Amino acid sequence: MKDAFLLSKRNIELSKYEVLYLLNIDDYKINNNLLVIDTNKNIGNQIKRLAYTKKAYCVLFETNYADLMKKIKTYAWKKAYKSNFRVRITNLTNKKIKHSEKDLASCIWINLEKNKIKPKVKLDNPKTKIEVIFAPKKVFCCIETWENKEKFELRKAHLRPELHPTSLDPRLARCLVNMTGAKKGSIILDPFCGSGGILIEAGLAGLKPIGCDIDQIMLNRAGINLDYYRIRGYKLKKQDATEIKQAKQKTDYVVTDLPYGKNTKQKDLVDIYDRFLKNLKKIVKKRAVVVLPDIIDYKRLIKTNKLTIMKEFSYYLHKSLSKSIVIIKN
Ligand SMILES: C[S@@+](CC[C@H](N)C(=O)[O-])C[C@H]1O[C@@H](n2cnc3c(N)ncnc32)[C@H](O)[C@@H]1O
Repeated sequence: MKDAFLLSKRNIELSKYEVLYLLNIDDYKINNNLLVIDTNKNIGNQIKRLAYTKKAYCVLFETNYADLMKKIKTYAWKKAYKSNFRVRITNLTNKKIKHSEKDLASCIWINLEKNKIKPKVKLDNPKTKIEVIFAPKKVFCCIETWENKEKFELRKAHLRPELHPTSLDPRLARCLVNMTGAKKGSIILDPFCGSGGILIEAGLAGLKPIGCDIDQIMLNRAGINLDYYRIRGYKLKKQDATEIKQAKQKTDYVVTDLPYGKNTKQKDLVDIYDRFLKNLKKIVKKRAVVVLPDIIDYKRLIKTNKLTIMKEFSYYLHKSLSKSIVIIKN
C-alpha cells in the first residue's frame, strides 16, 4: 500500500524528513511537494502529530496523464466508496488541468452505478474524500485520510502566558520533536528549555517532556506555559546543561535550541556548545535534534565529541540569522 503526504512548501526538505524520521522510513519518492512512501505499517494515529504536512492520503493508484480517464472509468471504486463522496483536484504543476472535478466525479458515479451502488455526492465533509493529484509527470488518485487542522499559530510565543523572545516557532518545535522518531509516551529531554516551547509541543504530541534550564525564572515560566496548555506529567529541573551527570539510564531523545545571545562572544558560545556536546555523548541513547546558529563550526565540535551527524538542515529566521538543525546520533 502507498501513502502520500502533501508537504508544506515553506521548507520541503524539513517537511519531508519530518515524515520519514517519524515513521522510520527510508524509501520514498517525491513529486514537487507530494511525498509518496510504500508502507505496510499502520501509520494511522502517528501522522496526526505532523507539523509540516498539510494532508495525508492513501494512494489508490498512480497513472500517467494519457491513461487517466481509462483508469478512472475502470477502477474498482466500489472498494473505496463509503456512503457518499466528493472529488477534489490538486494541481502541483504550473499547467492548467483540462479535467474538472465534475467530469471526474461523473465517471466515478457511472462506475459505481454499474456496480450496483447508488452513489451520493456530498461536498461538505463526505465519507469518501477522493483527491486527484496532478504532479508534473504522474497523476495520483487518492483517498484523503487526514487534514492538518492543528492551530499552531495560537501557540506562538507572544500568545503564551509567559513570553520568551527567542522561543522557536511552534510548528518548527513540533517538527524537531517528530524528527527524533520518538513514539507516544517516550521521554523527550530539552536541557536548555527556556520558557518551554519545545516541551509544549512534545507534551501535545503525547510524549513526556523533561526540561532543564540554568535559570529558575525561565523554569517558572515554562511551568506556567505547560500548565496553560494542560500538559501532564512534565518535569522541570534547575540544571546547568553542560554539567548534567550521566544518569543511571541514558535518555533516548534530546531536542534542544542552544542559547544564542547576539552579544555573547563567539568564543564563549563555542565553549558552551563544546561542553554541552561532551555531555550529550554521555546522556543520549538514540537521537538528538539540536538547533544552533550556523555561524559556529559545529561540525568540528560534534566530531571531536565523537558524535555522528545523521542529517543537517538550514532554517532561515531573518536577514541576519539562519539556524542549523542537526540530527545527531550517539
Ligand atoms: C534559546 S533559549 C531556549 C528557548 C526555548 N526553546 C523556549 O522555547 O523558550 C536558551 C535557554 O538556555 C538557557 N541556558 C543558557 N545557558 C545554560 C546552561 N549552561 N545550562 C542550561 N540552560 C542554559 C537560558 O537560560 C535560556 O533559557
